[in-house]
Amino acid sequence: MIKDYLKIRSPQELLKLAQGAYNYFCEPTHVLGGPIYVQIEPTTFCNLSCIMCSHSHHSDLRKKNLSREEFDTLFDKLYPGIKKISFVGIGEPLLNKDLSYFIEKSSKFKIHTHTTTNGLLIDENNLRALKEAGLKNLNISIDAPEKELYETIRRGGNFQRLCDNLLLLQKTNIQNRCEVVVWFVGTVENISFFPDMVGFVKKFGIKKVVMQVEQSWGQEYWKAIHAQNERSKLADFSLIHKKLEEAKERGKHCGVQVHYVNIPDKSSKRACKWPWKGFYISVDGLVTPCCIHGTDPRTLHFGNLLVEELEDILNNIKYKNFRKGLRLEVPPRFCQDCTSYYHPLQL
Ligand SMILES: C[S@@+](CC[C@H](N)C(=O)[O-])C[C@H]1O[C@@H](n2cnc3c(N)ncnc32)[C@H](O)[C@@H]1O
Ligand code: SF4
Repeated sequence: MIKDYLKIRSPQELLKLAQGAYNYFCEPTHVLGGPIYVQIEPTTFCNLSCIMCSHSHHSDLRKKNLSREEFDTLFDKLYPGIKKISFVGIGEPLLNKDLSYFIEKSSKFKIHTHTTTNGLLIDENNLRALKEAGLKNLNISIDAPEKELYETIRRGGNFQRLCDNLLLLQKTNIQNRCEVVVWFVGTVENISFFPDMVGFVKKFGIKKVVMQVEQSWGQEYWKAIHAQNERSKLADFSLIHKKLEEAKERGKHCGVQVHYVNIPDKSSKRACKWPWKGFYISVDGLVTPCCIHGTDPRTLHFGNLLVEELEDILNNIKYKNFRKGLRLEVPPRFCQDCTSYYHPLQL
């Protein structure tokens, strides 16, 4: 990854990279250059309705795919300078037939690309296309290693189809060129199954599994649902700790790395660097501070990159005020529930 950041193709790109480093380390209110990382939402359509996902609870989600022309417009405003793009948002990226076009264009300019999928729409054609497009990192979201629980969490999903697709993935050897990682959202329903994920992913030749905890996506309506929900009881970090340790132990024996992210240490200081490294772009071009605010970008956004210039967005008063707010001791209202605001717990 660092290697990718250091692939410099022109003096202009070197300058942007130096500006990016200044922004990241000095955290100025007025940033220089442009983002080094963005997350672009390829679609808001989805084939599932997962119990913990805000997509399933959002009553007026704008249903849209990002088009090639729109991607080209965004790309021209971000390059040079941009070094990594994650193609993920609230929806299933494989439902956008132009996903491999976005990745191929980015790869041509030596930009590291990443996407996250529920894995149910994988087939030989889209796998080949992603591989040839130069995808560098493929995350697959699987929240249970067995049928009943999987299909309860991933509503509309089919466990057998998932397993068939993981076999296909293994057959194509995509892992020779692209890192494949399984992601698991830990909830009260599935936390005790986490150690079994190690043996499950190993069967398909996958070498890394990552646990994250449930986010409220910064949305008031979501917090209300979450508060009434049994899943909110997963505040028991000692249980998470125990299951992580068990999983790590199993991983050591069979060569599977076990990681966790987003498990916050609320007594720590701010870890979030988003406003000084990049932003999230919704399917309709709205620039939000990060993915947490991407669920409903109308709540907080700094402009529309499809129609405005990058500089007019990056250093407008709203964005600058947001940066100032994030530098204060107390997190801004929008960040108070974000699990990425803090440093992770040292488990
Ligand atoms: C919103 S999904 C979109 C990509 C794709 N549809 C998928 O399921 O992987 C992106 C990631 O967010 C995770 N996710 C969904 N709801 C979540 C929540 N409440 N908290 C944290 N992560 C969540 C998913 O498991 C997935 O790994
Ligand atoms: S987690 Fe992914 S697959 Fe599930 S509803 Fe959300 S966007 Fe769709």
